[in-house]
Amino acid sequence: MIIPTKTLNNGLRIPVIGLGLWQIKDQDTFIKAFEAAYKAGYRLFDSAQFYKNEQFIKEAIKTLNLKREDLFITSKIAVNNFGYKKVKKSFDQSLDKIGSPYVDIMLLHFPVSILRKKSWIALEEYYALKKARAIGVSNYTIRHLEDLKRYSNITPAINQVELHVFLQQPDLIKYCDDNNITVEAYSPLAHGLAMDNEEILKISKNYNKSYTQIMLKFLLQLGLIIIPKSVNESRIQENISLFDFEIDSRDMNHLRKLNKDLRTCWNPTMVP
Ligand SMILES: NC(=O)c1ccc[n+]([C@@H]2O[C@H](COP(=O)([O-])OP(=O)(O)OC[C@H]3O[C@@H](n4cnc5c(N)ncnc54)[C@H](OP(=O)(O)O)[C@@H]3O)[C@@H](O)[C@H]2O)c1
Repeated sequence: MIIPTKTLNNGLRIPVIGLGLWQIKDQDTFIKAFEAAYKAGYRLFDSAQFYKNEQFIKEAIKTLNLKREDLFITSKIAVNNFGYKKVKKSFDQSLDKIGSPYVDIMLLHFPVSILRKKSWIALEEYYALKKARAIGVSNYTIRHLEDLKRYSNITPAINQVELHVFLQQPDLIKYCDDNNITVEAYSPLAHGLAMDNEEILKISKNYNKSYTQIMLKFLLQLGLIIIPKSVNESRIQENISLFDFEIDSRDMNHLRKLNKDLRTCWNPTMVP
């Protein structure tokens, strides 16, 4: 299956769906999930220093005999590695773990109040050295993105934020659209914590699709990148089987009404 791509603000193309890798801590499980995903058509893989599994990417590439250039690898600078020198040092350590001279995109994981400025400047310098094909941020609110404008030379290619049918963040999506920043929806299945909504069940039956396929397709139709996580082969396939149907505008409107600002992960809104 060929997965559609989106073009980021620097011209780099990113697949619209990828595999989330958070909480996959065991190498065998990781490589099995990676293999199932690759076979199903996934090319985008979302890791982070904080997940402590970047090194498994290197093992997966070796074990599965994959070509690095066929993959789109994301990592993120962990909060405890923020600061001008530490960002660079930890970035090099990530590259070493991944076994590649570059990542496709490196993000700052969280808008840590004081250190995020120096961390972004370090990231821009590493982008200039081609250690990342694009750079971006994660968990940034509009306020943090406005602040970033004051000291940045490069507009982040991506803002990766928690976004799902129960946390839709329409203002943030609009701001990012207006500022040429692509929104990547993390925890697109609400971390698996809300799988019994009557409206979604009803819609899924009408389209003969699964509950999760409706959750994910809704986000794709909003124009977002999505990175659902699963270690289960059939779910990995199910989550990418999204390109043979469209949710009509009436049902999109029903889904829009399900927003209830449910956060299942970090809440960055209080960070100054
Ligand atoms: N930047 C950040 O701060 C941040 C924060 C959180 C997440 N993320 C990224 O976003 C990715 C996805 O988010 P997430 O891991 O929080 O949660 P998610 O993708 O919203 O949901 C994952 C959960 O749903 C289950 N699941 C997956 N597919 C399913 C299906 N078809 N049917 C039923 N259950 C299914 C998974 O279990 P099984 O594995 O057992 O299938 C897992 O428990 C992460 O892995 C990570 O890469 C980034």
